[in-house]
Amino acid sequence: MTLLDGKRIAAEIRQELYGEVSEMKQKPSLAVILVGNNSASEVYVKGKIKACEEVGIHSYSYRLPENSTQKEVEKLVSSLIQKKEINGVLVQLPLPKALDADKILNLIPPEKDVDGFSPLNFGKVALGEKGVSACTPLGVIELLSRYNIEITGKHAVIVGRSKIVGRPLAMLLLNRDATVTICHSKTQNLKEECLRADILIAAIGRERFITADMVKNGAVVVDVGINRAEDGKLYGDVDFENIKEKAAYITPVPGGVGPMTIAMLLKNTVEAARKKQ
Ligand code: GUN
Repeated sequence: MTLLDGKRIAAEIRQELYGEVSEMKQKPSLAVILVGNNSASEVYVKGKIKACEEVGIHSYSYRLPENSTQKEVEKLVSSLIQKKEINGVLVQLPLPKALDADKILNLIPPEKDVDGFSPLNFGKVALGEKGVSACTPLGVIELLSRYNIEITGKHAVIVGRSKIVGRPLAMLLLNRDATVTICHSKTQNLKEECLRADILIAAIGRERFITADMVKNGAVVVDVGINRAEDGKLYGDVDFENIKEKAAYITPVPGGVGPMTIAMLLKNTVEAARKKQ
């Protein structure tokens, strides 16, 4: 088994981006909005801001209370997207339940949508055209590519059909000529579907949901999940300990896909700034 070391690859990418940014006349800039008190989101946002600093991207951080109204959040987003000096605007998800997340995200124009969540960017990626890709799916592809893992002609099985991971990742894999299956909570014979995977991607949000009997010998296993279990420890969506000897490649949690997501956000932000310049 080879560990897909996202932490190391992400550090490499930040180093590359630092070089790129240092040659830019105007530094790229990113505005990050966090609404409410989701503790995981707080950790992610901190990580994003720190990573920006490391590569020389200016970051602006905004914090709104849990009970913010739709209007208040929309007002902040609307004011940020108008600022010439801001290249990317990111609203950390999930938003508090009372808010209409789609309506808020749709305010962000495609050229400042560094998360790749806007319908236009998603549509472009789905059509195989150049658009901003969502960061986690892009991070998965980049990780596979840096380990020279072949995608063309392989059968990729994605468990999870979210707008943030499952769906856009399916499109990116399809654009690279994989045969793609998307599984979800209503899939029948999930185990059999997973056993067919050359590349198995778990993006479910349930701790150690993918067990060893669902994995083919020699498969590439990518774990997008990060879950705090009752024992207080962090686990992925994959039962790492029991699968690691079966898999040819596997991502650890933490230190696998997570750091790659942040690295791709930086990449999308640098790209947005470059396009504008
Ligand atoms: N929440 C979980 N993943 C993401 C992401 O990639 N971007 C944003 N904005 N929120 C998230």
